Formats: sequence, structure tokens, C-alpha cells
Amino acid sequence: MSPTQLISAPISSSSSPAFFGAASTSFNARSHSVSYPSKRLSLCRCVAVPQEEKTAYKTSVSRNENMAKLQAGYLFPEIARRRNAHLSKNPDAKVISLGIGDTTEPIPEVITSALSKRALALSTYEGYSGYGPEQGEKPLRTAIASAFYRDLGIGEDDIFVSDGAKCDISRLQMVFGSNVTIAVQDPSYPSPNRTYKLVGKLGEKDYMPCASLVDAIIVSMPMAYVDSGVIMGQTGQFQKDVEKYGKIEYMRCTPENGFFPDLSKVSRTDIIFFCSPNNPTGSAATREQLTKLVKFAKDNGSIIVYDSAYAMYMSDDNPRSIFEIPGAKEVAIETSSFSKYAGFTGVRLGWTVVPKELLFSDGFPVAKDFNRIVCTAFNGASNICQAGGLACLSPEGLKAMGQVIGFYKENTSIIMDTFNSLGFKVYGGKNAPYVWVHFPGRSSWDVFSEILEKTHVVTTPGSGFGPGGEGFVRVSAFGRRENILEACKRFKQLYK
Ligand SMILES: Cc1ncc(COP(=O)(O)O)c(C=O)c1O
Repeated sequence: MSPTQLISAPISSSSSPAFFGAASTSFNARSHSVSYPSKRLSLCRCVAVPQEEKTAYKTSVSRNENMAKLQAGYLFPEIARRRNAHLSKNPDAKVISLGIGDTTEPIPEVITSALSKRALALSTYEGYSGYGPEQGEKPLRTAIASAFYRDLGIGEDDIFVSDGAKCDISRLQMVFGSNVTIAVQDPSYPSPNRTYKLVGKLGEKDYMPCASLVDAIIVSMPMAYVDSGVIMGQTGQFQKDVEKYGKIEYMRCTPENGFFPDLSKVSRTDIIFFCSPNNPTGSAATREQLTKLVKFAKDNGSIIVYDSAYAMYMSDDNPRSIFEIPGAKEVAIETSSFSKYAGFTGVRLGWTVVPKELLFSDGFPVAKDFNRIVCTAFNGASNICQAGGLACLSPEGLKAMGQVIGFYKENTSIIMDTFNSLGFKVYGGKNAPYVWVHFPGRSSWDVFSEILEKTHVVTTPGSGFGPGGEGFVRVSAFGRRENILEACKRFKQLYK
């Protein structure tokens, strides 16, 4: 049988000639090692469709009413709009972005060499592997348990390796379903935002002359905890006057309460999303506060979903995991990520801990349902990325990650020192790569615009993270050192 016959055999009876033709063409191209010049790709051109060909045809499928409840991604498109408007007025401006919480340092070589070794091994019979366990490869699960949960009673079988914390948050929401109530911190994590730059050179993402920036599109990703709840149908409609969804408990976190909610004023919910160290405020809950949170959950029969994506940034002696708190295994799930430790925001690797002790009201283990969702909606993290994750947790990898984190922490100190020296009240920074600067009595958007117009630095207005962020601006420490120094020089000129 020829290669073409081999490929045609299973599909010939059910496939259209067009599909059959496409399949055999691509196979032949590959088997003869024909490499098309990239220009050939432009055969698929986007051309304007003549007016009369536009179709108004609609299917008879009604839109998911929960999707219709979602608010348009507002924060980052608005930042992009203002930035682009600024750039068209100031075409020579050297814009520095300290708004986007995306990593900028290259991944240490000890980690990328493991990624590439595993990738190359896939070209050999000995090194090839296909589908792996949906829960993750055993050596990586064991390494995560030992690196992050040693002596906390968390075993490798409590750990589910994933393609990132955000993906796991959505999968957890599938487990909970539409009949639960949720609580979130206000302000809280609006989700990583991505810049798709259409024009410009690689490596210029952080500090670009405007010619490349005006062509950038910023795509805002939905609020991780809130939007996944809306999609599941856990919430009411968005109430524009208060900028909140119905049926969500927003737990206000401000300097007045030490960025920890006054639990005596928090209504009971089934699920409590809690992020510490926190994005955007940079604050981290103390042992005493987390003990209160665990007790609160236990008294109310709630489940805490604890997001510890920045735990390795902790300088203070606060818990790095919720499981450091006695009794937490009966009330908490923890989700975390290699994104901000190893620069894996693009590589994609994270994990979630669901202890066997965590049970639903009927006694059924939450981990079994999570496992079912993981096996249904996910086929396991990439084997290449898992090799990278394992390298991260080797002694050399841990050291290298520590250096990357140390670098961003130095950036954070530079930003903190700058705003402190200018007399601002500055929060966060010590335990997270975010500096939360207070501009009392001022609108976050006004301050954002002032900084952009006068210094060409992009920050993030605090109110974009929830009503509790009004009056604050978040400055991200993810950036190249020269950009951080330059931005701080400009802040000093503006506010001296
Ligand atoms: C608090 C928090 N959790 C989770 C994530 C996303 O992690 P991942 O890249 O693993 O999806 C982020 C990213 O910015 C974050 O700030």
C-alpha cells in the first residue's frame, strides 16, 4: 500500500473529495520533504466580500444566556485605546509598559535545555511518548509535592498537573456547577492580558518606539474567578450602578482592613476565591488571617479556592500554601503555576491540589469529581512542558528560578523606593511583583492618564480590578531593568 493509499483507506468512504484531496496533498508534501516558501502561505488571503454576498443567515441555536451576561473586556482594551491615542499624539515617545503582568526575563537555560531535550527525544522511538496521564507525569507530581508541600500531608496523588492556573480555575468551576454561590476579593485578579503585536521586532515588547506600538492589539482576558462563575450561571446580571454581578459576594480588601476582608461582614457562600500573595494589591495574608479564613470556611461549610501563583515571591514569614494552616485540607483547594516563577506564561504549566480529605456535603470526594472533569475536558499537560517543569524543580532549576524571582523582586524594590521617596503611600511589593500606589481622592483612570501623558509609562488603573481598587494604580515589576530604571526616573521628574 502506498502512503497515499494508507491515508485514504480509513477516510475514503465517509469523506468528501475535497477533504480527501487536501489530505493526500499535505501528506505528499511532507513525505517528499517539500518545504514551501513562506510566501505560499499568503495564498489564503483575506479579501473584501462584496456586499451582496454577505449573509444574514442565522442558526436556530440560542445564545447561552450566561455568555450574554458577561461584560465586554473593558480594562485592557481601554488601556490600549488610551495608549494608542497617546502615541498618535506623541509619535516619538518611548513608551514603557509596566501595566501588563507578563514576564519579560528569558527562561533559564537549565530549564529550556530540558524542554528542548524532551522535544528532540520525541523524534526517536525510545523517547517518543503520546498521551500521558491526564493528572500529570508521576515524577513531576512527586517533585511538586516535595518542593511545595513537604511535611504538609499533601501527596503526589493530590496533585493535578495542568496547562496553567487559569485553566484550572475554569475546570474547578465546571466541578462546582451552576448552583453554588461564590465570593471574591475586591479588588482581584482580572486575568493575564496579552498583547498581540502585529508589527515590531522581537524583544521590544516592553519598551517600544511608537511605530510598532500603534499596531498592537491588546486582548483582555476575562476576570478569571468572576467570569468563569458568570459563564457557569452562578451569578445574576451585571449591575452597572455598583459595577458588580448579582449573587457574588465581593470581599472588600483595602489598606484599612490590611487587605484582608472583615469576615464578620462577609455573607456565607459555597466557594471563596482567595488569592495570596495578591494580584493586584501585592499583599499577602498572614498565618493568623489565613487561620481565620479556614475557620470561617469550616464554620460555613464552604470551600476555599486558594490561588498561590505568587507564593515564591514571599519575603515575609507568611504561609506559602493554604495547607500550612491546620484543618485546611478539609476545606481548601490550591491552584498554582510555573508562569511567574520560570517565565512559563507562554510555555503553560501549572498545578492544582485537591486533597482527598475535601468532601462534598454527601461525602463524595471533590478530587474524584475534579479528576473526572480533568479526564473529560483536558488530556493532560504537554509532555515537553512537563519536562521543563521537572527541570524547574531540580536543585539547579530551583536556584535558577530563585534568581529570576530575585531579579523581579529587585525591580519591585526600585519601584517601591521611588514612590516612597516621593511621599506616596505604597502597598504590596514585598511579597509579590506588584506595587499598589495610593493616590487618595483621585480617580485611578485620571492618574493612569497623567502618568501616561507626562512620562509615557503605561500602568494599570486600580479600579479596573474592581470598585475596591479606585484611587490606586498598579505598577508591575515585570520588565527589563533598564526600563524599570528609566520609568522610575520619569516618575521622579513627574512627582518631585
Ligand atoms: C493571581 C493569578 N493567578 C493565576 C494567574 C494565571 O496563571 P497561569 O498563567 O498559570 O494561567 C495569574 C496571571 O497573571 C495571576 O495573576
